[in-house]
Amino acid sequence: MALRTILKYPDKRLRVPGKPVASVEPALGALLDDMAETMYAAPGVGLAATQIGLALRVFVLDLQQNDEAERATGLQVFINPEILERRGEVVWEEGCLSFPGIHEDIHRDGWIRARALDRSGQPFEVEAEGLYAVAIQHEIDHLDGVLLVDRVSLLKRRFIHRKMLKWHQAAQHRESHEEPEPPGRPAL
Ligand code: NI
Repeated sequence: MALRTILKYPDKRLRVPGKPVASVEPALGALLDDMAETMYAAPGVGLAATQIGLALRVFVLDLQQNDEAERATGLQVFINPEILERRGEVVWEEGCLSFPGIHEDIHRDGWIRARALDRSGQPFEVEAEGLYAVAIQHEIDHLDGVLLVDRVSLLKRRFIHRKMLKWHQAAQHRESHEEPEPPGRPAL
């Protein structure tokens, strides 16, 4: 297993939509292990393949460690996810591993029914609400090349853009001084 680098906004690769996985081969398992390891190390509760520069419709999720989760999911793998049904509305303060330090209220569907393939290629369905529903929608956005900045006002978008440019400057500084990145809140 290996830690992958999580791309940070405004990296253009985050805008490349994922392609459906044609068939779930054993080789995909190594990638899924890397994604889970990278998510836990971040620390994060969700990570999409597009966030590590792979244009594939795959994400991993684990709400176990999060107090806000209405139910613990354990590690879940979603391959070629689709939302089949959506109801209601929820506003959730979301963080994203590609936007360190940024937390914004985002409007999402409050309840969803979704379908995907698991790591052995078997189809499964979930009904989700609260953070679980928010996380699935957030990760599917990533697979479509849609980011947190696309779901906020123009004013906030400019603010986030400036803040992220400063984040990259600070990251370069840390790198040249070999300082570790300060830990953040778990994000998606
Ligand atoms: Ni994210």
